Amino acid sequence: MQSINSKMVIAQTRRLVISKMSLDDAPFYLELVNSPKWLKYIGDRGIKTLEDSKKRIKDSVLTSYDTNGYGAYKLLLKTENNQLIGSCGLYKREYLDYPDIGFAMLPEYEGKGYGYESSLELLRIAKDEFNINRIGAITLPTNQSSIGLLKKLGLVYEKTVIPFDDGEELFLFAKDL
Ligand SMILES: CC(C)(COP(=O)(O)OP(=O)(O)OC[C@H]1O[C@@H](n2cnc3c(N)ncnc32)[C@H](O)[C@@H]1OP(=O)(O)O)[C@@H](O)C(=O)NCCC(=O)NCCS
Repeated sequence: MQSINSKMVIAQTRRLVISKMSLDDAPFYLELVNSPKWLKYIGDRGIKTLEDSKKRIKDSVLTSYDTNGYGAYKLLLKTENNQLIGSCGLYKREYLDYPDIGFAMLPEYEGKGYGYESSLELLRIAKDEFNINRIGAITLPTNQSSIGLLKKLGLVYEKTVIPFDDGEELFLFAKDL
């Protein structure tokens, strides 16, 4: 049974609780960022120990809450005693003119509509609470699950970007909120 800190909860949907993360989420975050599809489609961030995971939460997730007001959120499943199942977040990247949305489920919770359910609510929050009027999303061109979800959310392909020196091409999707 995962305990919920009500002060950290930003929204609830029919099946999910969407909550801010804390350093206590290091074990879950470590599992998520090392799940096979995260490694394949998002990348290996070199987070291999609980200490690495805590550092990344502190430096990236918590810093984004402080700097931008928003960031990466954890998803808890109400019907499974608030089991942690994945993440969904709003990000601000230097190479994009507007914030972007991202998501990832633990493997056993993919294909159940949780990505859509959480992202729909997060787009509402982005518009109503963070006054974001345009949202992007970046994905590898081969990531069919991600592209399918982005299209369902109404984002459309805008252009191909090469943000880093490694020359890897990413698709940028976007829509006005
Ligand atoms: C991309 C990712 C987050 C998608 O998550 P998801 O929860 O599987 O996505 P969706 O919400 O679109 O659900 C997928 C399917 O579940 C189905 N589904 C099953 N039960 C459902 C239910 N009760 N309600 C709604 N949909 C349900 C849907 O029909 C949907 O199928 P469709 O694609 O034919 O419409 C997931 O594949 C993932 O974690 N990938 C690895 C990380 C990653 O690549 N992230 C994106 C980086 S750019």
